[in-house]
Amino acid sequence: MKAEQNELVTRTGPGTPMGELFRRYWMPALLAAELPEPDCPPVRLELLGERMVAFRDTQGRLGLIDEFCAHRGVSLWFGRNEECGLRCPYHGWKYDVTGQCVEVPSEPVESGFCKKIKLKSYPLVERGDILWVYMGPPGEQPPLPEWEFITVRPEQTYTSKRLQECNYLQAMEGGIDSSHVSFLHSGALNTDPLFKGAKGNEYNLRDKMPVFEVVESEGGLYIGARRNADNGQYYWRITPWVMPCFTMVPPRGDHPMHGHFWVPIDDENCWAWSFDYHPTRELTEYEREAMIAGKGIHVAVDKGFRPLQNKDNDYLIDRAAQKAGKSFSGVDGFGMQDASVQESMGPIQDRTKENLVSTDNGIIMARHRMLRAAKAFKDKGTLPPGVDPKHHHIRSVSIVLPPDQAFKDGAKEALTRKKVGAEQTTV
Ligand code: FES
Ligand SMILES: [Fe+2]
Repeated sequence: MKAEQNELVTRTGPGTPMGELFRRYWMPALLAAELPEPDCPPVRLELLGERMVAFRDTQGRLGLIDEFCAHRGVSLWFGRNEECGLRCPYHGWKYDVTGQCVEVPSEPVESGFCKKIKLKSYPLVERGDILWVYMGPPGEQPPLPEWEFITVRPEQTYTSKRLQECNYLQAMEGGIDSSHVSFLHSGALNTDPLFKGAKGNEYNLRDKMPVFEVVESEGGLYIGARRNADNGQYYWRITPWVMPCFTMVPPRGDHPMHGHFWVPIDDENCWAWSFDYHPTRELTEYEREAMIAGKGIHVAVDKGFRPLQNKDNDYLIDRAAQKAGKSFSGVDGFGMQDASVQESMGPIQDRTKENLVSTDNGIIMARHRMLRAAKAFKDKGTLPPGVDPKHHHIRSVSIVLPPDQAFKDGAKEALTRKKVGAEQTTV
């Protein structure tokens, strides 16, 4: 990759081409549980390099406004959330959920001064257990997201988030590149309660040279990884990627399906969102407890959603476990195995220095698609893939197919979610 391309695809601040692109989507902003009730404490939120504060007002309305008071710049995170507004603790200026200033106590009401003050604000909407934000121009707001995991009943789904201390793109590329599973995650595949026991795991571990086939979809890509199964058949793991930052992991046995969003906080940090859901049944208590404990793709975090294993403690790497082969990397847990290697690339990976191989095809095509979409949007205003909620009607698939069948044909039906709650296709 050329240095300019790397800049273009990794920078998402206001006014950057990729930043403008991201601002056209509904993105996960907060867990709904972070704003549990009317007049609860406000929450700080930084996305795409913009600092904001979110609150739920007395009537339960959601607000997401500029973090800093229009008077003299105090963080409204210190504010009092009361009587349908957030009041700055310094001199009492008060703002409603739209960012409109509704009270300046020092000025006479007749002066109408406060009417002239309005903070920047964005719509924040609850869907599933997530609060979603749209940060684009108000007139261009797309329909709300329709991902299956936010459409099933709450008993069937669980979502978590963790801070990842690197650029969103190298994190997302880990979600696209399933060739690392046979290495990085190999120790955990047979022991993690949310993965073990699937027939597919055997194929995964036996064949460390998967053949990748990548096919364009309306919203992004389908990345198929082919490994040898039994009797000359092929075991396919198919990962959908939908622009700009959604990936889904192919399922294993009857375990819940899962996936991620990789949302830029600023250019050197991102939120790794992880969801699990089962399309046809409730999660068991055992599964839910495991997810809360940070098993599977989830991670144990502190109050600020920073993982307890982090770069300050070398992710608690266990060299003895690494040596004994109990764990390929020595780092415990899928999520932190990913985060540790991806953060080690530096805050923004220098892609001019890589040496890509054939298993990186999915990543190469995703980068191109992003660059192409950003350019088409900038030059011609073409709406990027993945904005249309129809593009959210996808699924990941694991399937055994005869050797002469392309996955795009053999798994065609299974990759599209025709109706919420249909059986998953999994091995
Ligand atoms: S700085 Fe907020 S009211 Fe003065
Ligand atoms: Fe991974």
